[in-house]
Amino acid sequence: MMYLTALLPFILTIGPAAASSILFSNGTIIGFKKGTSDTLDSLEVTRNGDVLVTNDRIAGIFSGPAPTSNVPNGTERIDITDKIISTGFVDTHKHGWQTAFKTLGSNTTLAEYFLRYGEFATEGLLTPDDVYYGQLAGIYEALNSGVTTILDHAHHTWSNETSEAGLRASIDSGGRIFWSYAFHHIKNFSIEEQFANFRDLATKAEFEGSPTSLGIAYDNFGPNPDVEEVKTVMDLAKEFNISVVTTHALGGPWGYDNSPENLHTLGYLNNSASHGPAIIFSHASYITATSATLLRQTNQHISITPESEMHYGHGHPVSHLIQDQASLGIDTHFTYSGDILSQARLWLQATRRLLHQQVLDRWHVPSANPFSVNQAFLLATRNGGAALHRPDDIGVLAVGAKADLIVWDGTSPSMLGWRDPVSAVILHANVGDIQHVLVDGKFRKKDFKLVDKNYETVKSKFLESAARIQEAMMDPRRIVGDLEGSFMSGFEYERPLRVDVQPGGGDGYGRVFLD
Ligand SMILES: *[C@@H]1O[C@H](CO)[C@@H](O)[C@H](O)[C@H]1NC(C)=O
Ligand SMILES: *[C@@H]1O[C@H](CO)[C@@H](O)[C@H](O)[C@H]1NC(C)=O
Ligand SMILES: *[C@@H]1O[C@H](CO)[C@@H](O)[C@H](O)[C@H]1NC(C)=O
Ligand SMILES: *[C@@H]1O[C@H](CO)[C@@H](O)[C@H](O)[C@H]1NC(C)=O
Ligand SMILES: *[C@@H]1O[C@H](CO)[C@@H](O)[C@H](O)[C@H]1NC(C)=O
Ligand SMILES: *[C@@H]1O[C@H](CO)[C@@H](O)[C@H](O)[C@H]1NC(C)=O
Ligand SMILES: *[C@@H]1O[C@H](CO)[C@@H](O)[C@H](O)[C@H]1NC(C)=O
Ligand SMILES: [Zn+2]
Repeated sequence: MMYLTALLPFILTIGPAAASSILFSNGTIIGFKKGTSDTLDSLEVTRNGDVLVTNDRIAGIFSGPAPTSNVPNGTERIDITDKIISTGFVDTHKHGWQTAFKTLGSNTTLAEYFLRYGEFATEGLLTPDDVYYGQLAGIYEALNSGVTTILDHAHHTWSNETSEAGLRASIDSGGRIFWSYAFHHIKNFSIEEQFANFRDLATKAEFEGSPTSLGIAYDNFGPNPDVEEVKTVMDLAKEFNISVVTTHALGGPWGYDNSPENLHTLGYLNNSASHGPAIIFSHASYITATSATLLRQTNQHISITPESEMHYGHGHPVSHLIQDQASLGIDTHFTYSGDILSQARLWLQATRRLLHQQVLDRWHVPSANPFSVNQAFLLATRNGGAALHRPDDIGVLAVGAKADLIVWDGTSPSMLGWRDPVSAVILHANVGDIQHVLVDGKFRKKDFKLVDKNYETVKSKFLESAARIQEAMMDPRRIVGDLEGSFMSGFEYERPLRVDVQPGGGDGYGRVFLD
């Protein structure tokens, strides 16, 4: 139970401590201004301004040097001249435990993912320590890239011990993790045992005093739900005042509905009067007009995971039509970029391409750009907070909001010369330009380095674990390859036209998986 010791230093810092303040001075601030009845919400840029953080909150934003009377004694001062300070990114869909599979799924399809990498295919493969180090390494990748809030669909719940390990890693990471316990039908851990385990974790509440909290993940809301089981899940959410429930929603040829209509029929979507949990539908690729309307009426959201949906082939043919109730997620970070910045950029440009193409298809010329950088920034930050029903304090840089912050090195080779800070971030920056990251007012990355004095140990423990897991994944019995017949939804498989960058005969391919 190696991972228990890692928690100790964290616990010791909790308790009544003196207020601690940090002043970021003379930087460009990408702030947020809430709209009134006459105006829309908007980003508000302040140049050569100061941001004061006290404890876990943003205590002040100043358009020049903060007046001394506002700055408490003992404040840590950080000069951010020529740098940009923004809120942290919000990822509303991730499976942190899967880090050890890194690069294995590079040529994978979604059907193969289910058969080889998913929660059912890998039951029994990971020890609690494997889950702990995978989850921690996965969250560290996110924190390093400025993702400060994560909705983790935690489907590593194969036993009491693996569940506990993933939750502990989330707490230990210092990230703002909505660690969402997945209730699922697996072989060696009955759903009743999972309910008992969940109650136990919720009652012990070891996350209290940390930015981590408990959510619920459940993928059996529809089309043919076990109504009693759904009721047990949603009663647990109510009993423990759970703030978020998330589900994989796909539809189309994939089946796997879990749609807003499914939840509405069951009576769980329209819950604001009863202060029910935020409901977040990951992907929702084939969402119907009715479901989209329901999301707007009930203020619930989807999580678009752009790279995942392009890589594996989920598709997202209509997601651009419901971006006002959407946020961004990463999904399986072991397969591609683990940062929301890349997701925002990919989604921005892919959506521009789609909407430009609609005009070009009519043999017309686009007269305006369909998607602005400010909208992309809001989608990657503010909309994530809104999806979690935390519009006032997560994903916004505003007085009173959580101090979840990124400082960008505006003088890096890729950013140098910017006039508009939002474009500098969304279209020019990369993760290497991120100098500081704070969550809940505490540095998680400082001067380009993760803040964890045990990081070298975490790295070597993770690498040992990953080497073992990767070896097991290479077992020929686990390799899937080309699929024939029909997917489990009943729809037929079809081989897409394959790219061949090499001239000559053959299809340019051997096996498309590692051996
Ligand atoms: C800050 O410290 C100075 C000198 O030690 C003291 O005079 C002043 O009252 C302190 N201010 C606050 C707000 O504590
Ligand atoms: C504030 O930043 C500007 C550049 O944006 C710089 O010219 C000025 O010297 C800085 N002021 C201080 C007090 O560092
Ligand atoms: C089966 O579950 C038990 C108890 O939950 C656990 O200790 C054991 O490691 C599990 N076995 C496998 C192969 O996952
Ligand atoms: C798992 O935890 C629950 C709740 O504490 C407990 O009732 C159950 O016996 C545990 N299962 C195992 C196999 O230890
Ligand atoms: C439930 O949690 C919310 C925050 O998510 C809090 O505002 C509220 O007071 C809690 N209610 C109860 C009954 O604990
Ligand atoms: C949601 O519930 C409220 C009452 O709390 C009701 O006024 C509203 O019509 C309902 N909306 C939908 C879409 O069912
Ligand atoms: C991807 O496919 C290529 C064939 O073009 C293969 O050589 C390579 O090993 C595959 N990589 C992975 C990670 O599966
Ligand atoms: Zn997922």
